[in-house]
Amino acid sequence: MGILDKLIEKAKSDKKTIVLPETMDKRTFEAAEKVLKEGIADIILIGAKEEIEENSTGFDISQAVIVDPFTDPNKQKYIDKFVELRASKGLTAEDAKKQMEQDYMYYACLMCKCGDADGVVSGACHSTGNTIRPALQLLKTKPGVKSVSGFFLMEVPNCTLGDNGLFVFADCAVNVDFDSEKLAEIAALSAQSFELFVGHKAKAALLSYSTKGSAKHSDVDKVSEAVRIAHEKYPDIELDGEMQLDAALDLTVAQLKAPDSAVAGHANTLIFPSLEAGNIGYKLVQRLAKANAYGPVLQGLAMPVNDLSRGCYADDIVGVVAITAVQAQLGKTA
Ligand code: ACO
Repeated sequence: MGILDKLIEKAKSDKKTIVLPETMDKRTFEAAEKVLKEGIADIILIGAKEEIEENSTGFDISQAVIVDPFTDPNKQKYIDKFVELRASKGLTAEDAKKQMEQDYMYYACLMCKCGDADGVVSGACHSTGNTIRPALQLLKTKPGVKSVSGFFLMEVPNCTLGDNGLFVFADCAVNVDFDSEKLAEIAALSAQSFELFVGHKAKAALLSYSTKGSAKHSDVDKVSEAVRIAHEKYPDIELDGEMQLDAALDLTVAQLKAPDSAVAGHANTLIFPSLEAGNIGYKLVQRLAKANAYGPVLQGLAMPVNDLSRGCYADDIVGVVAITAVQAQLGKTA
């Protein structure tokens, strides 16, 4: 059984309510039908009545709850919550109403914030920024976390490296610019995510083009300083660096380049030094090694919200719904 099938089974064991706000797209209805038929989660669809009727033709969504943002009796509750949360930004009730009617992602996040849903999946027809900004603004980070980041759960076929081909790669999606402190937090959250999703001990490698001081540059210092901070702040997490990718994965190289490291040669959680490296890295493995890349899964948010690729298929949405439901079961965003 692949990792996604395991997560789908886990989602079914304690059904959560996931909101799909992209009712302007037929893939949403195809996915909703599958999720409901297989019992993976309960589904809320947000959309105006006519829009839903038009786009859902041919799909059985009779078990979904439909919330029309123009007629929803709970709307005032969400407007009040929105205004309360964004009072410091000067948001008026009129602006809140307009924004919720124009961008259902805001409506979906407010439903979660008010306890009427457990998570949101969106992004099939919105950019990553527009998908996650409402979540950052309204749901915020979970206690003790400064920054939300995005990981991919990578499943590499015919691979004995990592955890028999399973890895977490991060940050591949969110933080465009980060210092050593943020990098240390990304590493800690990613190690926790690996353990929550895979169920085995994480071994996190903070990657660089240098292994243990073999090269000198401020880029290298940023990573080695992150390792120092992480050891101090998160002593229970097994991580090491800075190290090159070959030292992180290959035991023979590890013995040459980092013989004293317990992580080198065994890494299953790969922490990239920049968003460029993380984003390019996961796509390389996905395309060249034909890996399954599940994500980006957001970690560090107070409630689970996950993004989709705009090229996604309905089955990808089903997978992300299952991942989101599992995060909701855990009561925290991995
Ligand atoms: N963690 C927690 N909160 C955050 C984070 C973060 N990483 N980043 C921003 N915020 C908060 C801000 O504090 C702010 O809160 P406030 O409004 O209450 O003050 C709010 O989110 C909005 O922040 P801005 O900086 O104004 O938002 P911005 O428009 O810059 O958006 C975003 C932030 C969406 C994360 C942006 O950094 C971004 O677009 N990142 C890159 C996304 C991307 O393009 N990824 C690559 C593609 S994904 C893929 O290929 C799979």
